[in-house]
Amino acid sequence: MGSSERTRTVKLVLPSRETMEGAGVHLRRAFGNNEVPMLDPFLLLDDFRSENPEDYIAGFPWHPHRGIETVTYMLDGHVEHEDSMGNKGVIGAGDVQWMTAGSGIVHQEMPKVDQKRLGGFQLWVNLPAKQKMMDPRYQEVKSTEIPVAVPAKGVSVKVVAGEVGGVRGPMKDLVVEPEYLDVRLEPDAVFSHPVKPGHTAFSYVLEGDARFDGEEGERVSSENLVVFGDGSGVHVAGGSKPSRFLLISGKPLGEPVAWWGPIVMNSRREIEQAIHEYQEGTFVKKGKQVH
Ligand code: CO
Repeated sequence: MGSSERTRTVKLVLPSRETMEGAGVHLRRAFGNNEVPMLDPFLLLDDFRSENPEDYIAGFPWHPHRGIETVTYMLDGHVEHEDSMGNKGVIGAGDVQWMTAGSGIVHQEMPKVDQKRLGGFQLWVNLPAKQKMMDPRYQEVKSTEIPVAVPAKGVSVKVVAGEVGGVRGPMKDLVVEPEYLDVRLEPDAVFSHPVKPGHTAFSYVLEGDARFDGEEGERVSSENLVVFGDGSGVHVAGGSKPSRFLLISGKPLGEPVAWWGPIVMNSRREIEQAIHEYQEGTFVKKGKQVH
C-alpha cells in the first residue's frame, strides 16, 4: 500500500454467544442488537452450524421482515423457504440467498431434517430510510455461480459480493455497496485486500485461526468476531493452522435504528405501523399475506 494509505487494525475481538431464535433454534450469534450501531450498516450475524438436528429442527416458521435485507449463506445441508411473493425453493450447501425485504415479506425458512448436519450463516443488512419501503426482491445464487479468486499463494476466496483481484461476485446493485468474501488461508499465507475507507469491516472466523493485525498480531480462533478500525485495507496473516473466515464490509448509514424482532425501521412509530399492518393483513405490499 502507498504512503497515503493505512492498514486497518483490529478494534475489537468479540466471542460469539449461544442464543435461541425462530421456533427454538440453537445457534451462535456473532453480533446483534447489543452491538448497534458499531457494525452499521450490519445488524446481525448468526452462525447456525450444528451436527445435532435437535438444535435446528424447529426452524423459522412464518414471520415478517421489513426495512432490511437478510443474506443466507449455506455451508452444509438444505433449508426450504417459501414466501408471500410466491417464491418457494431450497437453498443448499454453498448457495446464497440475498433477500431484500424492503416494504415487506412474510416467509418461512425450514431446515430439512433428513440430513446429518446443518451449517450456514445469516447476515442482516440494514436499508437506508429512503429505501426501507422499496419493492422486495431476491437474488439467489447457486454454489457453482460463486467464483473463487486466488490472489496469492495459499489464499483462496469465494467472492459472494464485491471483487478480489478482478474476480467479481454475482450479487448486483446492492444498496450499501457490501463486500462478502469467504476466505481460506494457509498458515504461511497472507491476504492483503483493499476495503473502502469509511466503510465498516469485520471478519468472523469459521475454522482454524488467523492474525488480523498482520504477522505480528494476535491469533484469533473460530467462532470469534473481529471488528476492524478504519483504513484503506486489511492485512491478514495465517495462524498456526489453516483458517477460514468471512470478510464483510459495507457503507454505514448513520441513521436511527428502531428494532423490533425481524422488522427494523428508523422510528418507534414506523414499527408500530408495521405491527398494526401485520395484524390487519395489510403488511405485504407486493404479493399476498397468507400467514
Ligand atoms: Co427470516
